[in-house]
Amino acid sequence: SIARVHGYEIIDSRGNPTVRTRITLESGIRATGDAPSGASKGTREAVELRDRDGSVKEAVDSVNYYISPALSGLDVREQTKIDELMIELDGTENKSRLGANAIIATSIAVAKAAAMSLSMEPFMYIGGARRHALPVPLLNILNGGVHAGNMLKIQEFMIIPVKFDSFKEALMASVRIYKSLKGLVAERYGKVYTALGDEGGISPPLSVTEDALNLVYTAIRNEGMEDRVYMGMDAAASDFYNHEKGVYEIDNGTKTPDQMIDFYLDIANRYPLLYLEDPFEEDDFKRFSELQGRLGKVIVTGDDLYTTNVKYLKKGMETKSTKGVIVKANQIGTLTETIQFFDMAKENSIKTVVSHRSGETEDYFIADLSVALNSDFIKTGAPSRGERTSKYNRLLEIENDHGLEYQGRKLLW
Ligand code: PGA
Ligand code: ZN
Repeated sequence: SIARVHGYEIIDSRGNPTVRTRITLESGIRATGDAPSGASKGTREAVELRDRDGSVKEAVDSVNYYISPALSGLDVREQTKIDELMIELDGTENKSRLGANAIIATSIAVAKAAAMSLSMEPFMYIGGARRHALPVPLLNILNGGVHAGNMLKIQEFMIIPVKFDSFKEALMASVRIYKSLKGLVAERYGKVYTALGDEGGISPPLSVTEDALNLVYTAIRNEGMEDRVYMGMDAAASDFYNHEKGVYEIDNGTKTPDQMIDFYLDIANRYPLLYLEDPFEEDDFKRFSELQGRLGKVIVTGDDLYTTNVKYLKKGMETKSTKGVIVKANQIGTLTETIQFFDMAKENSIKTVVSHRSGETEDYFIADLSVALNSDFIKTGAPSRGERTSKYNRLLEIENDHGLEYQGRKLLW
């Protein structure tokens, strides 16, 4: 059972303070959980408590003065009961009292400690009787939006290594494309512009979407991978939507929502686009569904649209808004609710993407979560920077040790 729950501040990959919770069991076993932190957050996300000075002292206090006394003595394997207890203790709709950062760090630490107490791999413990497989990575190799210093409005340009027999092969091919992209940028714009954005992608000095797409596709073709590797984008469109004028500010001009539809259709016609996240601002369920209807095979995906909350997923299903969902545990605040959301999506044949945040720590927990739940995809940035590679390296370790099947070929429906 749980002996101690202790919270303290650590820093994330942007150097911002975030919450780490450490659980100590009576047996002496210890495990930690970290709260990641987003930069392009959805407005319906559970609340990350942050003090005026940028610290997370208040959230750390939540762990030490409210959560800790409530959890001590409990059986660490009772994840659902513990998560429900924290939800109750918080008592708000959006976890604004204790802070979703305090709660998710604890929820993750509980799961990891429970797995250790049973001498189990976290993915086996969390997944239980589920089939385990290795997810297809969505690698964000070119960064824009609020994650980069350039003028690109689309936040993420991803490569998707689908037609491979193993996760390792898929990842190594992606690394070659990433390096080829870096070379292209150095050649065209100068080496000084090969600097990385928040998620480890290159952030060249561009302002026009087409130029970024062209660079990524050129890198794919330079490696001879155009038949095996697809492309994806996360527009994170809420970040460049002008609410007063009702237009998107993109490519050095503006586009109406209807013009945005044509813009995406044109891209899907000319590039091997498989995945498109948050193409419209987070309240426009209707246009998501119109675009999904017209894009056929592309997996339109909701991130800010759903914020890992079943309430909004239900709405999205009624309007047939998307074929895919992003799953971010800190958007909702507990592992139990995250898995409920995941299961609802899966039961309705919606593609699932277990995802990091732009502010991450070196904890590889989401790698285990994606394998545990058998998600179709994992989104964890470029193959660079330690907080991104920790997840890729954990997936390589799982494949090496357990030889699980790679999901890529199964995706070719
Ligand atoms: P965030 O962005 O973690 O900065 O919110 C990631 C995403 O939009 O997918
Ligand atoms: Zn997103």
